Amino acid sequence: MGSKALFFFAILSFSVLFSLNLNLAFAENEETEEQVGLVMNFYKDTCPQAEEVIREQVKLLYKRHKNTAFSWLRNIFHDCAVASCDASLLLDSTRRSLSEKETDRSFGLRNFRYLDTIKEAVERECPGVVSCSDILVLSARDGIVALGGPYILLKTGRRDGRKSRAEVLEQYLPDHNESMPVVLERFASIGIDTPGVVALLGAHSVGRTHCVKLVHRLYPEVDPVLNTDHVEHMLHKCPDPIPDPKAVQYVRNDRGTPMKLDNNYYRNILDNKGLLIVDHQLATDKRTKPFVRKMAKSQDYFFKEFARAITILSENNPLTGTKGEIRKQCNVANKLH
Ligand code: HEM
Ligand SMILES: *[C@@H]1O[C@H](CO)[C@@H](O)[C@H](O)[C@H]1NC(C)=O
Repeated sequence: MGSKALFFFAILSFSVLFSLNLNLAFAENEETEEQVGLVMNFYKDTCPQAEEVIREQVKLLYKRHKNTAFSWLRNIFHDCAVASCDASLLLDSTRRSLSEKETDRSFGLRNFRYLDTIKEAVERECPGVVSCSDILVLSARDGIVALGGPYILLKTGRRDGRKSRAEVLEQYLPDHNESMPVVLERFASIGIDTPGVVALLGAHSVGRTHCVKLVHRLYPEVDPVLNTDHVEHMLHKCPDPIPDPKAVQYVRNDRGTPMKLDNNYYRNILDNKGLLIVDHQLATDKRTKPFVRKMAKSQDYFFKEFARAITILSENNPLTGTKGEIRKQCNVANKLH
């Protein structure tokens, strides 16, 4: 072989090796990424019955306490919208840190003990395998179905965080009187667009709002934008300008179909019956109003956008792979080591 040919051969084999190497590196990357991401049916080998056990528990609990379903649904917002779907919402306060549950934004959150019931049922089948964050997300999915909403296919494989995020919570969760541009911006930062936000707020088609969150719209003067028939009802339910925090005084979010996740919410807010300032703004802001009208007309469109937005919310920045832990009890982080 002449020296020219040898040189050519050397270059050729070098480039073949080089590209092979690159390909290998790519393949490895793809594989690790796939392993640490969320997937459909993550527990198919380690706990194949997990999703079924959760579904059965949600059905049983819903039969006994209808309002548990409101809680499953609200939980996914309060956990996933705050930095990560990591079940940090479920942690109790410790001597060192205040829990998210005890902050003002979490006012009214309830039924956490039933989440423990589900966790216990799952632990009996497969101890130490299924995370509280997956249970939180899947119970929301099944709660939505119990309330008459769509069935949403959701991925699993989330792991649980070790600490509460109470100190940053207000940077993520809008207040009841937040302006619509700020609300839209907060959701946009986790990938949820305007129709997505409009659909998610449709969750206020079920459940209740306590008078403490409403009296500023009634006293000292009634907010003039409120529907006068609705004002009468609100004043009847919230007769005191300063409600006794111990008395359970509240107004149902949707008087028409309070137990159904449906598009009646959009007709209510277009009728100026939105309880919270954010609900009212949704129907009046020029960016959101067209979608409110569309959802008021079409339940299918509402469900389609709702399913899409819940999916994005449920995949917000999860802990996967070897990050975080599988909590033994949902209200406390495992002891280190
Ligand atoms: C701008 C965003 C939001 C604000 C400011 C907000 C605020 C509130 C407030 C103040 C209450 C009343 C709590 C009480 O008095 O007990 C409430 C209830 C509720 N929220 Fe939201 N929310 C927002 C978005 C969402 C989202 C995205 C969901 C779910 C996807 C959701 C689900 C619920 C449910 C189901 C209830 C009724 C809870 C029950 O009856 O126990 N909310 N919300
Ligand atoms: C919203 O309401 C809270 C009380 O719940 C109040 O402290 C705050 O000033 C209000 N914010 C706006 C923008 O009106």
